[in-house]
This record gives sequence, structure tokens and C-alpha cells, in this order.
Amino acid sequence: MCGIVGCALKRRASDIIYGGLKQLEYRGYDSAGIATLSKGRISIVKRQGKVEKLENCIGELCGNIGIGHTRWATHGKPSDVNAHPHAAGKFAIVHNGIIENCSELKEKYFPDADFLSDTDSEVIVRLLDKFYDGDLLNALKKVADLLTGSYAIVVICTDYAGIAAVKYKSPVIVGSGADGNYAASDAPALAGLCREISVLEDNDLALVTQDDVRVFDGNLNEVSRAVRPNLATPANLDLGGCPHYMLKEIRESPYAIANTCAVFHTAERELEKICSGADRVIITGCGTAYNSGLVAKRYIEQFARIPCEAEIAGEFRYKNPIVGENTLVVAISQSGETADTVEAARLAKRANARVVAVTNAPYSQLTGIADVVVPVAAGPEICVAATKSYAGQIAALYLLANVLSGRATDFEEMQKISRLCKETVENTDISAIADMCARSGGVYFLGRDIDYAVALEGSLKLKEVSYIPSEGYPAGELKHGTLALIDENAVAVVVITSERLAGKTENAVEQVLSRKGKVAVVTGLESVAKKLKDRAEIVKICDCGEYLSPLISSVALQLIAYKTAVMLGRDPDKPRNLAKSVTVE
Ligand code: M6R
Repeated sequence: MCGIVGCALKRRASDIIYGGLKQLEYRGYDSAGIATLSKGRISIVKRQGKVEKLENCIGELCGNIGIGHTRWATHGKPSDVNAHPHAAGKFAIVHNGIIENCSELKEKYFPDADFLSDTDSEVIVRLLDKFYDGDLLNALKKVADLLTGSYAIVVICTDYAGIAAVKYKSPVIVGSGADGNYAASDAPALAGLCREISVLEDNDLALVTQDDVRVFDGNLNEVSRAVRPNLATPANLDLGGCPHYMLKEIRESPYAIANTCAVFHTAERELEKICSGADRVIITGCGTAYNSGLVAKRYIEQFARIPCEAEIAGEFRYKNPIVGENTLVVAISQSGETADTVEAARLAKRANARVVAVTNAPYSQLTGIADVVVPVAAGPEICVAATKSYAGQIAALYLLANVLSGRATDFEEMQKISRLCKETVENTDISAIADMCARSGGVYFLGRDIDYAVALEGSLKLKEVSYIPSEGYPAGELKHGTLALIDENAVAVVVITSERLAGKTENAVEQVLSRKGKVAVVTGLESVAKKLKDRAEIVKICDCGEYLSPLISSVALQLIAYKTAVMLGRDPDKPRNLAKSVTVE
């Protein structure tokens, strides 16, 4: 994980690097740092905390060449000393990834050295310093050959008027702009700076100076890599009048639905072809993307009557899955960069499966692997908690399920859902429930069938932004163990959108109430609201039928999570310990 930006410019580098890091904070915000090179000397500032902690120090950094890093801690706690860049001798480096043989390397090459930090990255800069004999590219290659794990490494050296990079399994892009040349971990860092970028391949190295960018393969042969437009636009950091991005982005969910429907035709033909003859579907993703896959499983099984499994990507890739040429593997990822999902898609590809990516990132690692890309048009999502991208994913997956089953999509109905979603966002009052949750010792999200899939997402959202322990549970399973946790400090948020299952789910409401737990019911059904209104807090949402209800009920749950977090004084946009894009295992 972590974000990297480096440059060799015709102007001062530190403010450009700072701007790039701000765009990359979704990759981590445990610490940040910048190193610049001026008159043969390297200067470094680094601080624990968000990128903004550097704002007052970037003035101290002279020079047109530099590297910067925003960190999500893996090895070594968040601290000033563990922050990147790390330096040794003539070098400073920033690293994204994990060096799995770090202890062996330390033992073999530096048995007596005291390392300054607890990171796995410091060994890289020590090795560079050890192996450097005046040729930067050779030294970097030598060091890269010793590393196992994953890495994107960008380096400055007091002997070299530029930056150097090497990558394996962690992305590095390079690009040219009006002021000079760049290397970065991903496109948003270079938004507004480079119109075009090239993506390095595994084992590639790059030398980037003010005047040019040279790329070398793992045998040090100079190569050229495809140039493509940088579609990333500088993230709109405007909060649109909202106190947090989370709220702003929940409010954008209706547009995510409408826009995803509007662009679906770009994938439809290819999708039809790839779906034809598929006899099994495996959906994979992580976190919220996996949860949207659980909704899609219901669509696919109901509409197409094709067996469908939803698998957490980090599990799928290590379980020797049964995948063949008639298996359709649908990999869902907002960022398109999540390591487990990308590797799951690769594994499926190697097994000759047909791979479809459902993603909000049109040029990502995932889209490079997939046979067909179904676009989610949610627009940039800044808040770490996924909200509008979930709505976009559900819309895209609904359309995909229709193609798979040969059902015609009623696009007018989708427009209507987008409007109902807007109504829900604007008019749903969840304050009383948020208050209940904020005071509780634990919150249980319950539902059956599709409502259970939504309950899992509601629970993830609440725990992620409020830090209140929470579980999503099938309403019928409560009595098989979890009911033991219910007492007067517990809250159950029960989702009921299906007439068919309402009576059954209401049993769970009774079970919680009779153990003195508090209950909130999120429902589109008038009959349910009427029946339970005196004993439970009711959130009445629009009734929009069973299948599309996740597009409405999830918004109510997102609002509950948001409001609870705010009541507890949390920062919902940057929850502790998390990063938006999880590019390590
Ligand atoms: O970018 P991706 O969709 O692949 O990310 C997957 C998860 O890391 C992500 O959905 C995570 O669970 C969200 N922060 C939850 O709100």
C-alpha cells in the first residue's frame, strides 16, 4: 500500500510532491515524508500522521528533484522514524509493498548494524548503499534481485540528477509533463501534471531526469512501454457544502446508479459474448466489493439460475479453486488495485476462466487482466468508506445478471430507483438510531436473503467509521448462538424489504426485544412499519421491490454509520488503521 510520487523538474519539487501526496492519501495516512536533492545533498522531512503535517515544512526543502511517500503501516508502527523516506549514505528511498525476506537480508548483510526504524524498507536503502559502485541502475537491479515480496521503490542518489525506480507486484507509473518528468505509484498523483502515462511491468526499472524517462526490463535492456492517457483528474477536494466526504459521497449515490446505467452499453456486447455458455459464476472481491458480490449472487441465481458463489478474494486465491473455461469469474473492485482481488483475477485467467472486472477505475491493474470491463461510474471516491461505489457496483451487477440471464433491463425502472435513492438520501431521518448505536455496546445488523447481504455491508460500514463492535447476521441464525450477546446494551438494526420474508424476520425482532435489546427496523413495507412502530425505531424507506432494495436500504445504513461516527467525534473520512486502496496482502 502507501502512495509514492517522485519527480525531476525544471522547478522546485517539494510543493509538487506535496500536492501529489495529497491526491494519494487514500493509499494510507499513518505518516508522510518528502526527500529532495539539492547541490548534492539530500534533505528529508517526515512526520507521523496525515500529509497535511508536512505543509509547514515543505518550504525547508530546496531542489528540483525529490521523492515523497504517504504510508499505511505494515512493518513498524506509525511514527516519525518509521515514516519514509529512509536514507543511508548517498541514498534516500520510498517503498510501497512488503519485503518478505527482510530479516534474512538483515542477518546476512548487516549482522551487526543497528537499524534506525522497524520497517522492512530500511534494508533496501542499506543494501543500495552497500552495493553501489557508481552505477545507480546496476545497484538498484542488484538490490531488487535480492528482494522477495512486493515492491515499488523510488530512489534519489546524491550522484544522480534524477530519480530511479524499480517495481515488482506493486504499481509504478511514469509520465512527462510541462515542468519535467515523474514516477508515481498511481495515476491520481500525476493528475493535472501528466496528460499521458506509462505503466511499468514487473521487474522494470526506470531512470527519470528533467529531460527524459528511460525504462529498462529486468535484463537491463532499454524498452518502451505503451503510453496511454492519464484519465485521472485532480480529485475534487471540494466538500460540496458537506462537513465530510462520506456524506457528500452518500449523496452522490443516485448519480452513481444513473451514470453506471448510462455507460453500461459500452460493455454490453462483449459481456454477452463472454457470458454465452458459462455454466458457473464465481464472484470475488474484498470488503464492500465482496458484499456487493453477495447481492449479485442472489441476482444471478434468481435470474439466470446458474450456480454462483461469492468468494472473498484473499480466500479464493489460496484455496485451489475449481475454475474452468466455462466459469465466469467476476472480480469487483472500486479501485481496481486491491492486491487480493487482482491476484484472484490473475489466478482465474491462468485457469482459462472468463474474467469480468466490475470497477470504478477504468485503467487499473484489474482492467489490464480482465477480458471484459463493466464500468462503475461512481466518480472518484475519497472517503475511505465505500458508499456511492457500492451503489454503482450493485447497479452494474444487476445489469450484468440481466445479460447473463437474457432478461431485458428496464432502464426506466433504473431511473426511478435513482430518484428514489435521492429521496432516501435527502429525507431519511436516522438521528434517533444513530444515537442508539452511539450509546450501545454492540450493534447487530440482521436480515434475510438479500437483506442479509445488505446487513453485512451496514455492519462493515458502522464498525469501520464508528469503531463500535458490530456484526451482520442472518436473521434466522441469531438464535443459534449470537442471541447470547443480546442484553440492554445491544442494538439490532433489522432490514426488512421483502414482503415474502417479513413475517420470518419479525421473529428475530421479537427475540431481541424479549432479551431487552433495542431494535431499529429499516423497511419499505408499510405493514411492517405499522406493526412495529411502538416497540422499535422505524426508518421508513421507499418500497422498491425486493431486488433493487439494496440501492435504497444500504443508503439508510450508510447514513446511520456516518451519523454515529460524527456523534462519537470520529473522522469518518479517514478511519483509524485503514487505507482506501489495499495493495498489499
Ligand atoms: O477498491 P476495492 O473495492 O477493491 O476495495 C475493497 C475494500 O478494501 C473496500 O471495499 C473496503 O472494504 C471499504 N473501505 C469499506 O468501506
